[in-house]
Amino acid sequence: MQANNAEELEALRIKYLSKKGAINDLVTEFRTVQADKKREVGIKLNELKTRAQEKINNLRAQFERNSDKNNDLDLSRTAYPVQLGSRHPITIVKNEIIDIFSRLGFSIAEGPEVEDDWHVFSALNFAEDHPARDMQDTFFIESHPDILLRTHTSSVQSRVMEVNQPPIRIICPGRVYRNEAISARAHCFFHQVEALYVDKDVSFTDLKQVLLLFAREMFGADTKIRLRPSYFPFTEPSAEMDISCNICGGKGCGFCKHTGWVEILGCGMVDPNVLELNGIDSKVYKGYALGMGVERITNLKYQVKDLRMFSENDMRFLKEFEAAY
Ligand code: DAH
Repeated sequence: MQANNAEELEALRIKYLSKKGAINDLVTEFRTVQADKKREVGIKLNELKTRAQEKINNLRAQFERNSDKNNDLDLSRTAYPVQLGSRHPITIVKNEIIDIFSRLGFSIAEGPEVEDDWHVFSALNFAEDHPARDMQDTFFIESHPDILLRTHTSSVQSRVMEVNQPPIRIICPGRVYRNEAISARAHCFFHQVEALYVDKDVSFTDLKQVLLLFAREMFGADTKIRLRPSYFPFTEPSAEMDISCNICGGKGCGFCKHTGWVEILGCGMVDPNVLELNGIDSKVYKGYALGMGVERITNLKYQVKDLRMFSENDMRFLKEFEAAY
């Protein structure tokens, strides 16, 4: 008797162990066994029944195990493709900015995100009562109001100047925090890249040239720039830079509010006070600085309408940038 699969095994069970099976026939015939042989034959019959049942059960378990293996585990099958991630759009654009400035001789400097008041505000010439220090904008550590989350990467300027003498030519990419209600247009954290150049004979013309080159490298050779006077505590004079809207080409559209221009960064000549506060002789050295938001540049390049998309890690959104790098 042999069974090669579950069906054959069931046929065997029916043949031998069912009510009308061969073993039951023997049990029926047991009545005819002579009285003095009953004990001996009875024991053998029981043994036969138990062993047959055991054998059927074991074989059934074995067939079940084999069929599970056949369904789930095929060691010869090719592995599932490993899903590779892709670069985050903010990283792609940040790297592009870094790349443009490194070709101009800037090197990368970094500083802590948890900062102190001195590096974020005081060393950058913020007056004691400047509104940027306000609780509305800045995340302070409750038990220690001198410690805060940096609100801009300009803090790295001060960290670099306090331990280096010119020439200084650095960019500072990093994350910054502001106490803003989260919406499509604002978030409580975002990314900036700061640039600082301090040397003898640095002029506003140098700044303007770097700005123009950056805009053209980033947004295309036809890009125009314009500077509007502005105010920052750490630069004098200060300016904001607009580029010709790269979505409508300067004709006017919803994105540029029909002006043809979009603001992308703040800049200026480093205020002599800032040089002095950080141990650099302002009679010998001059500098320029600029700072931009990476999300803003990314929006302009890729027209992401909702800032929250950058931090939701939705695969459908992230996959759209696979080709970009
Ligand atoms: N720190 C400024 C901000 O967060 C941006 C900025 C403006 C940086 C002018 C600069 C600068 O270096 O010169 O809004």
